[in-house]
Amino acid sequence: MTHSQRIKQMFNSISPTYDTLNHLMSFGFDILWRNKAVQSLPSSAEEILDIGTGTGDLVISAARKNQKLKGFGLDFAAQMVKQAKLKTQKKHLTERISYITGDGLNLPFPDKSFDAVTIAFCLRNIDDKKAALVEMARVLRNGGKVIVLEMTFPENIGFRKFFNIYLDNLIPLIGRSISRDAKAYRYLPVSIKGFVKPDELTILFNEAGLERVKYTKLSFGIAYIHEGYVHY
Ligand SMILES: C[S@@+](CC[C@H](N)C(=O)[O-])C[C@H]1O[C@@H](n2cnc3c(N)ncnc32)[C@H](O)[C@@H]1O
Repeated sequence: MTHSQRIKQMFNSISPTYDTLNHLMSFGFDILWRNKAVQSLPSSAEEILDIGTGTGDLVISAARKNQKLKGFGLDFAAQMVKQAKLKTQKKHLTERISYITGDGLNLPFPDKSFDAVTIAFCLRNIDDKKAALVEMARVLRNGGKVIVLEMTFPENIGFRKFFNIYLDNLIPLIGRSISRDAKAYRYLPVSIKGFVKPDELTILFNEAGLERVKYTKLSFGIAYIHEGYVHY
């Protein structure tokens, strides 16, 4: 089984408890960080694509903030998409949000389809990050924006120690008690620690042809938002 098949299987398996565990493990910070990412969307954006949408939280939050926005959520784990659709129905947003099962590395959309592309807590699961960014840039209209929200291992030594204890002990413990898939919550710390540093991701943005790249540190560097634009 490839890395990507394992990731897909893992998210399909944890989909019923994903939201509960996400909010619990991050002490609700994931909601704040997603809202920050949504605030970075251009106010003029009419159509956005959320890659690795999971249970749809980011695209739902964007659609609630901007009543004119049309959102598309894409994820390769069908069970996560199922949860996203249920949530979107409950929030009466089905007219403005559509979901599609697909791969972030091979987006089923023509060139220049969107005003912005978002991706939250997903890029760290994709091996070829530059290829994913190139694919995001491809589907953006001129002046369109890529927004990446991702968790990272903080630079600050003191905070790193504390965060390490949390990642290696608390996360697997909570994961084991609530989710059916204990393995998934052993993978989570590994994926956060292994994610590229903010400056390295900036280089990948540039190599993918994205311009005016900047990043914002959130919560002492546990998470970052990277932004960049395409210009034809
Ligand atoms: C940690 S979840 C994040 C979900 C959501 N964005 C959020 O903010 O909670 C990562 C999601 O990315 C999806 N994913 C990972 N690699 C992907 C890929 N190559 N293409 C599409 N989806 C992918 C997984 O199936 C999973 O639903």
